[in-house]
Amino acid sequence: MKKLVISIVLCAASVVPNIALAGLEVKKLRCEYLENPMGLDIAKPRLSWVLKSTDQGQKQTAYRIIVASGKSKLESSTGDLWDSKKVESDQTIHVVYGGKTLKPGTRCWWKVKVWDKNGQESKWSEAATWSMGLFDRKDWGNAKWIADPKDQAIQVSGPMPATMLRKSFNIVGEAERATVYVTGLGTYELRLNGNKVGDHLLAPEFTYYDYRIQYQTYDVTKMIKNGVNGVGAILATGWNGEHFFGMAINIMQNPFQGRRGFIMRLDVELKNGKTVTVVSDKTWKSTRESPVRAAGIYDGYEYDARLQWHRWDTGEFDDGLWRPVIIADYIENPKNHKGEKADDPRLVWQPNQPIRVMHRIKPETMTEPQRGVYIMDMKQNMVGWCNIQVHGRPGTEIRVRHGEMLKEDGTLYTANLRRALQTDRYTRSNDRHSALEPRFTYHGFRYVEITGRPNVPWRYEPGRRIYTPNPKHVIGEVIYSGAPQAGEFECSNRQINRLMDNILWTQRGNMHSVPTDCPQRDERAGWMGDIQAFSQTAIFNMDMAAFFTKWIKDVRDSQLDDGRYPNFAPMDKERFAGGTPAWADAGTIIPWRMYQNYGDVRFLEEHYESARHWVEFVYSKNRHLCWDKHRGSSFNDWLNADKIKHKSESWPKKGAEVPHQLLATAFFAHSTEIVGKMAKVLGKTDDAKKYLDRAKAIKAAFNKRFVKPDGKLEGNTQAGYALALEFDLLPDNLRAKAAKHMVDGFKKYNGHMSTGIQTTHRLMKELTRNGYNEEAYRLVNLKTFPSWGFMMENGATTIWERWDGYVKGRGFQDPTMNSFNHVAFGSVGEWVWRYVVGLNPDESRPGWKHFTVAPKPGGGLTWARGEYESIRGTISSSWKIEVGKFRLEVVVPPNTTATVIMPDGKKKEVLSGKHLLECNC
Ligand code: BGC
Repeated sequence: MKKLVISIVLCAASVVPNIALAGLEVKKLRCEYLENPMGLDIAKPRLSWVLKSTDQGQKQTAYRIIVASGKSKLESSTGDLWDSKKVESDQTIHVVYGGKTLKPGTRCWWKVKVWDKNGQESKWSEAATWSMGLFDRKDWGNAKWIADPKDQAIQVSGPMPATMLRKSFNIVGEAERATVYVTGLGTYELRLNGNKVGDHLLAPEFTYYDYRIQYQTYDVTKMIKNGVNGVGAILATGWNGEHFFGMAINIMQNPFQGRRGFIMRLDVELKNGKTVTVVSDKTWKSTRESPVRAAGIYDGYEYDARLQWHRWDTGEFDDGLWRPVIIADYIENPKNHKGEKADDPRLVWQPNQPIRVMHRIKPETMTEPQRGVYIMDMKQNMVGWCNIQVHGRPGTEIRVRHGEMLKEDGTLYTANLRRALQTDRYTRSNDRHSALEPRFTYHGFRYVEITGRPNVPWRYEPGRRIYTPNPKHVIGEVIYSGAPQAGEFECSNRQINRLMDNILWTQRGNMHSVPTDCPQRDERAGWMGDIQAFSQTAIFNMDMAAFFTKWIKDVRDSQLDDGRYPNFAPMDKERFAGGTPAWADAGTIIPWRMYQNYGDVRFLEEHYESARHWVEFVYSKNRHLCWDKHRGSSFNDWLNADKIKHKSESWPKKGAEVPHQLLATAFFAHSTEIVGKMAKVLGKTDDAKKYLDRAKAIKAAFNKRFVKPDGKLEGNTQAGYALALEFDLLPDNLRAKAAKHMVDGFKKYNGHMSTGIQTTHRLMKELTRNGYNEEAYRLVNLKTFPSWGFMMENGATTIWERWDGYVKGRGFQDPTMNSFNHVAFGSVGEWVWRYVVGLNPDESRPGWKHFTVAPKPGGGLTWARGEYESIRGTISSSWKIEVGKFRLEVVVPPNTTATVIMPDGKKKEVLSGKHLLECNC
């Protein structure tokens, strides 16, 4: 998306007259949220497009979709797979494919045209494609899970060389189309004729492997040769053998934990009409004599270039020194950890954008805090790795350590990584180009420490030559699940701009196929409470639809049989419990956000029973309607002010933490209400009544138990008021009183928040919603802790886990839990979008079909603008205060409408197009 231009010229007219009559253009065709996706296993995929127009009030009145089995058929508008014909409808998202049954592997070409408000027909859109994948195991034909003989031993974490697998095969003729379906356990890199296939990293990514392993589909037509070809794969253990939380073994206790395997089917359709299929089977060869000496998600990547097998991934390689592979029976016919027969994990398509290199950063400076120890500063806390060219004699070895912070003496701070080593090593060969290019790992860091040998040992000894790296030879690659950026924000306040930038970087750092809590220590788990709090901010920043579509399946896979959602997902439900208030409730809240923002009803259909099961679990244990029993790990409002180590004596040691049952009951009411609303959307009238009534009853129980007649809540915490207000738990007559108590709560904390990760953003929103907008702006502008400003004053380029992660003079917080890249407190981004920019989705017309634009200026801001790429097109809101006037420019996409509420309270209903409005301020 293009960067917003800083100055905007606003005129005083309330509505710009309609000048051009350009009709509608159809753009951005997507299938299941992705552009030109491959390998779907969904029988009836859904199609969406975006409309563009310069007209005012433009909308779609009908559409026609053509799906063809070939490009030329599509060009001649022959819909041999489907011709929807003209359908009178304004639907532009989630149109369900209604054509012929699609067989595995079918490639579909499609285009759309629409009719506008005047019945004028648009041009056809550009062509787009999707392809079907393999629906079940039998579609893989003779492909078998294979591995090196050593891969069947369970790996207890520790350095272990990668497995290499290969085969040569012959192709006679020109390839018309070649498609490869492939996956592995834990992570693989596929190579064909000397090159890496695709740009996916860490495939097949992290899922609950007992139930689902995602396969990837790549078009390799251009990589296939007429003649002898070579295909190969490198396998590392990845998430399937990680020592999460310092444990000895994988987060999952699956039948193949810590083991490896690989499966592939390659179909080469020749120009002569024949198809050659190459599969993974007994004819492959393998070795563990790999230059990848070790690779772990947490620990890092170790590569000895002297051990390279030259051209091993080409047809001409002689693999006589390699051994025959084994058929990985532990995946083909798995047994669970009790020795019983387990289900074959389902091979499913990958519905989310792959992890890939999204940005590149060069270090700007290099220091040498100790002799021979060099530190590069990326100037940005980033997640990924560094590619480093290594010079010197063969055998020259570098060690690269990564950390988020420096100690006061300028050396690397690593204590907060716990047992994650985050260390890459590289040994140079005599190749001219010799470079560390890590994979099968990722690191969270801002600082990179490089030391080298054998020219010197790791520690400097006087008189020895020193290996000196060159910052010019270092490139930081930022990797994450490549969801496109959706939001751009800018305003007249530098601190808020920087905050929003830091939030975006934090999000980038915590999307590695699951929404992680942190990217650096030995955790990086899909913690439910964190993303629950952050989800709306995440959606404003990036298009999260595909990512959540994948992850919600991890959540359901990890749901316990009794209905409890896990604390993080994927999570081994045999070993860990779940059912924690606010964490488990991500299982209702995130699906609802998918509905509000993307209008995704299928998502609700697939998820409804699971969400219902969850609220029924809580109800079954707490029939009196206050969530007292079975609160799982009851993390409560994690990292509230009681956890801050403050130097000042006047800082209260206790009293910030909301009573556990109060927070729990608030979420119980909220989740039950969401399930009621889901039921309503799905036409389940009885359930809707049941759960909406129950939600009301829980609210009544909440009031009876926790609310006093003067609006005070038990515990009198800022957090409690924020929850009660946000979830609309209080009767109207108590709202203002509760809001006042919330604001009074700042006094004890010298004008600061005392809230934790579940309530900080809720407090901000409720301040603005309840007439204390200036207070919200005051908090966002603070520089003393707890505040975002404090983090930034101390150099933060991402959001810290703790308000007091580092304090000058006092030093670091407890290293066992002190990440500097944690999304939770970044949830304040939602407040900026909803109130500074003023954009709010309307769940009665979901997917931004209708929305509200209601900016709440304050805090001395003179202008702000936000542009949000919604599922129906670009929405923008820009405002400026000039000589006592508040001037707002709103852009509403075609086929949508908005209600604009000006700061003076005046409302205006607007149709699509650009609108200029103003009021006195
Ligand atoms: C994570 C948090 C998470 C919490 C549960 C921590 O280790 O980093 O963000 O929500 O555990 O309390």
